Amino acid sequence: MDPHSTGDLFSDEALQQPARREQIGEQSYVLRGYALPWLERLLPELRAVLAQSPFRQMVTPGGFTMSAALSSCGDLGWTTDRQGYRYSPIDPERHQPWPALPNVLRELATTAAAAAGFEGFAPDACLINRYVPGARMSLHQDKNERDFSAPVVSLSLGLPAVFLFGGHQRSDKTQKTSLFHGDVVVWGGVDRLRFHGVLPIKHGVHPRMGPQRINLTFRKAG
Ligand code: SIN
Ligand code: FE2
Repeated sequence: MDPHSTGDLFSDEALQQPARREQIGEQSYVLRGYALPWLERLLPELRAVLAQSPFRQMVTPGGFTMSAALSSCGDLGWTTDRQGYRYSPIDPERHQPWPALPNVLRELATTAAAAAGFEGFAPDACLINRYVPGARMSLHQDKNERDFSAPVVSLSLGLPAVFLFGGHQRSDKTQKTSLFHGDVVVWGGVDRLRFHGVLPIKHGVHPRMGPQRINLTFRKAG
């Protein structure tokens, strides 16, 4: 091969950021840019899911409308209304099953979990949150799942967010981590029930995703 050839330097792979793994808890990691190489396959599938089950705003048991709009895919979808939080196999808006979890999403979640030390993650629920600027997610625990041995895998797309990662009490101090397009966060094991949330999204327009942030959280719920 011609040693002066620059072909390799300019290949897509050479331009890809090396994946960086940042530890944010004993069993919690931010995988920087982990999903970037998947997005060409992933975004059309996500678009198809959302065409079937569009984003909608849900009400909490306390009667507040969530600022993030929600949808789901997979066997189970997370929902909230005046009656409570729960997982349901049926999209309550369409009275039909949620769209199937696309293979590319399942593969991404399984390999990201493995990269964070959780082998064999088999998600059956993918919650899709849409944040327009100003929308937020207050501190909460993911605890509607049947068993907590599986981790939570969270993919960020579009506008950046400040992710709050707290402790096991709502009042515990939180650490702040900025999450960017293509980042994946995985938390599980001793960290599985830690409080977490997202500060209000700042105004902006993402070149690929527009004026919004979309977050997908994969869980084993059933
Ligand atoms: C969630 O906890 O459901 C969403 C977290 C995020 O948007 O990053
Ligand atoms: Fe959550």
